[in-house]
Amino acid sequence: MARDDGAPPSDVSRRTVLLGAAAGGTALPLLAACGGGSGGSASGATGPVTLAASEVPVGGGVVVPDHKVVVTQPTRGDFKAFTAVCTHQGCLVGSVRNGQIVCPCHHSHFSITDGAVTSGPAPSPLAAKQVTVKGGKVTVA
Ligand code: FES
Repeated sequence: MARDDGAPPSDVSRRTVLLGAAAGGTALPLLAACGGGSGGSASGATGPVTLAASEVPVGGGVVVPDHKVVVTQPTRGDFKAFTAVCTHQGCLVGSVRNGQIVCPCHHSHFSITDGAVTSGPAPSPLAAKQVTVKGGKVTVA
């Protein structure tokens, strides 16, 4: 029986390891390129946010955590927006339920109509933001 367990096979496997290391090395520049942020449009978390009006339920609202904004529609066609930063201890409000904006941290509730505190420890209303509605899109400045 011919069993060749000499040097060549181990040499091949060592070359494979080296190739693998080289392939891993190329991933770093690719990752760096992704984080470059040269596009501009995708990195505007502090800029205006635009939603389709249909995404905002009537009598409810949507929290946009990336932009720290909550957009509501108390009655059909009437859109409001508020900061999503709770005035109690600065948590982001988490949801809109039963016509109220709810902070998950200590359960402050705010009106979807004017951001006023309706219950909980928050000392003051959520600050209103400017909203424009055009062509089925809601934009918060
Ligand atoms: S931070 Fe929102 S209720 Fe405390």
